[in-house]
Amino acid sequence: MSNKDYIIAPSILSANFARLGEDSKSVIDSGADWIHFDVMDNHYVPNLTIGPMVCKALREYGIQAPIDTHLMVEPVDQLIESFAVAGSTYITFHPEASDDVQKSIDLIKSYKCKAGLVLNPATPVSLIEDKIDQLDMVLLMSVNPGFGGQKFIDSVLEKVSEVRSIIDRNNFKIRLEVDGGINLSNIARVASEGADTFVAGSAIFGEEDYSEVIQKMRSSIDAI
Ligand code: DX5
Ligand code: ZN
Repeated sequence: MSNKDYIIAPSILSANFARLGEDSKSVIDSGADWIHFDVMDNHYVPNLTIGPMVCKALREYGIQAPIDTHLMVEPVDQLIESFAVAGSTYITFHPEASDDVQKSIDLIKSYKCKAGLVLNPATPVSLIEDKIDQLDMVLLMSVNPGFGGQKFIDSVLEKVSEVRSIIDRNNFKIRLEVDGGINLSNIARVASEGADTFVAGSAIFGEEDYSEVIQKMRSSIDAI
C-alpha cells in the first residue's frame, strides 16, 4: 500500500464541544484527513453525544473534509437518513443495532453516502462476512464503544489481520478502520496488521500542537 492511502481521522469526541467548529477546522488544517463523528444515544451505549444538527452546523461552518459518522445508536435507520442529509460522507453502524442490516446498508447507499459496519472487540468477523462485499469500510473497535480515552485492546490486532486477509484475498476496495485507544506508541502496530484508516481522539485533541502529533503519527505509519 502506498503511503498516501493512509487516513487519519481525529475523533471530535475529545475536541472542545464549546468550540467544535474551530477545533474541527484546526485539526484538518493541521494535516488530518477526515473528521470522525461519534454519535452516542444513551441506549446502545451509556453516553450521549451529538446529533445531525451538529454535523450540519460543521458543514455550514465550512468543514469540507469527509465526515466519518460512527453511529453508536439503536435503532439506526432514522439517524442514517438524518446524518446523510446533514452532510455525512461515511456512515457506519453496529449490525446488532439494526433490525435489518441489508436495509440499513441500502439506505446509506440510497443517499450516495459510503457505508460501513462496525465490530465491537468481542464481535466475530463472521457476523459481517456475508455483507462485506457491499461495504466501503469495515470499522473494528479496539475499545468497547461509549467513551474516549480508553486503553487499546491488543487482542483486536488479530482481527485486523483477519479482515485484511479477507479484503486482499477478494481484492475488495474497502477501507479498514480501527477506532479506540490509538496513539503514537501503537499506531504502527495497528498499521502493520493491515489497517489503513486510524481514528484517534484523546491522542490528538489532548495535545497542544495537533500538527506535531499528526505528523508523528504519519511518520510512524509511513515507516512500515
Ligand atoms: C469510542 C469512540 C471512539 C473514541 C476514540 O466509543 O467510538 O471514536 O472517541 O477516542 P480515543 O482515541 O480517545 O480512544
Ligand atoms: Zn468512533
